[in-house]
Amino acid sequence: MKKICVIGSLNMDLVVNVEEMPKKGQTLIGSNFNEIPGGKGANQAVAAARLGGDVCMIGKVGNDSFGQSLLNQLKTDNVKTDYIQIEDGASGVAIITVDKNAENAIVVSPGANFKLTEDDIDRCIDGIKESSTVVIQLETPIDTIKYALEKSKELGKFTILNPAPAVKLSDDIIKNVDLLTPNETELEILSGVSINCEDDIKKAANVMLEKGVKQLIVTLGSKGSLYLDKDKMEFKKSYKVNAIDTTAAGDSYTGALSVSLSQNKSIDEAMNFASKVGALCVTKVGAQTSLPTVDEVLNYEF
Ligand code: RIB
Repeated sequence: MKKICVIGSLNMDLVVNVEEMPKKGQTLIGSNFNEIPGGKGANQAVAAARLGGDVCMIGKVGNDSFGQSLLNQLKTDNVKTDYIQIEDGASGVAIITVDKNAENAIVVSPGANFKLTEDDIDRCIDGIKESSTVVIQLETPIDTIKYALEKSKELGKFTILNPAPAVKLSDDIIKNVDLLTPNETELEILSGVSINCEDDIKKAANVMLEKGVKQLIVTLGSKGSLYLDKDKMEFKKSYKVNAIDTTAAGDSYTGALSVSLSQNKSIDEAMNFASKVGALCVTKVGAQTSLPTVDEVLNYEF
């Protein structure tokens, strides 16, 4: 089976449920509190592994109890952890509030994730070499991401960048991305085009294609997703479910795409599978607690 290498963040998510999101300066009493393994990188690695992918991860945790729990969860899910290093200091932590409409607000303290360097990528280069697909997000240092993308392309790998949390990226990063998976807001930030209608999405996507991205899949939440390359555009509707927590929906979608594409499925099949995975993810609480297995996806009646 072709392997997938995920390069990215691991965070312990500290999650509180609230009726409404707090306003500036407001103190609210929430309901449940949960500690849940998360981090966009680890979520995508676990998502891909639960869906049948052969996955390794490159990243860093701290030498605290969160770091151990995050590593243990990856091992439980059969993600190869040989390329995850333990640093002195704190692991990444995300403070998350989820409201009654299943929407979330997230603040990340990156901790060890921001200590991932270009030298670390060299030290873990076998993880990239042994894989066909490399999946990256934006919760580790930008210089490291740029280097990892360059190395991956030099080694002939298929690169997927999930540009979250979005920041403006230089052209020499973007040119090494084969597949970009932004949501509308992320695409707006990356392209500089403000998005109010489908035509704006096309304009914004064209800006990215001109910069060298080969393919884009723009996730549109409950509306669906849109594939674009230089020659074609294809819309896929989402599956309707009762959403209770949207945390990690985008991660589950990117993880699912990486598995399908590494199994040589068509874009159409990959998007359909990823839409099902994203839909199931929002029916459960939390990040890695909500990522479905391949059997759950195949047996669910959509
Ligand atoms: O995408 C969801 C993730 O964003 C959370 O698990 C949190 O850790 C942040 O990285």
